[in-house]
Amino acid sequence: MAEKWIAPSILSADFARLGEEVEAVVAAGADLVHFDVMDNHYVPNLTIGPLVCAALSKHLRGAGIDVPLDVHLMVKPVDRLIPEFAAAGASFVSIHPEATEHLDRSLQLIRSEGCRAGLVLNPASPLTWLDHVLDKVDLVLLMSVNPGFAGQSFIASTLEKIAAARRIIDASGRDIRLEVDGGIKVDNIGRIAKAGADTFVAGSAIFASSDYRATIDAMRREIAGAAK
Ligand code: DX5
Ligand code: ZN
Repeated sequence: MAEKWIAPSILSADFARLGEEVEAVVAAGADLVHFDVMDNHYVPNLTIGPLVCAALSKHLRGAGIDVPLDVHLMVKPVDRLIPEFAAAGASFVSIHPEATEHLDRSLQLIRSEGCRAGLVLNPASPLTWLDHVLDKVDLVLLMSVNPGFAGQSFIASTLEKIAAARRIIDASGRDIRLEVDGGIKVDNIGRIAKAGADTFVAGSAIFASSDYRATIDAMRREIAGAAK
């Protein structure tokens, strides 16, 4: 199984101090930085775009910090923004199938821009979206809340979906990460790991805690415990 990665979502960071906040979570052990892009159209919220991504990449480069940016695009239409996020320093770019007219083309576009491609499935979106594009994805991201807001509760039925996605990925023999996003806390991350996830997004659980390192360490202990 792939190395386990924890991806703090900056949606719950203090945006007035974004550079410092990201430096702090990376120093606390973050493996990826999850960057939530919302457009008030595909989802009912409005957040940040490529300008902020580019500024953050530049800030991190200046500080000598090399951490992959995991960009989660909740925007429709999505294609025009893919090259902009690639130029802004994204490592992973993940898209929702309902946000593009031509999923296969959009996934190819992400890779052609030099990024790793992610397919994001909402709680009610079936795993059959993977049937014909598994060769074009580097990451499957299962939403365990409906996208749009931080701080929602984990939808329990996602655990079975994670296990089913794990079986599909393993059967394919491909190198594809399985990420889960929404409502992940210290007290449920072990179950999520046990179901088969290898990459864990957590926003409020990390940024609302007083000690980022203690929270990330506690999450890692739970993940390690789940492997036993
Ligand atoms: C929700 C976003 C998530 C969100 C997670 O639409 O995609 O990444 O920031 O926040 P928590 O961990 O607080 O549920
Ligand atoms: Zn997200």
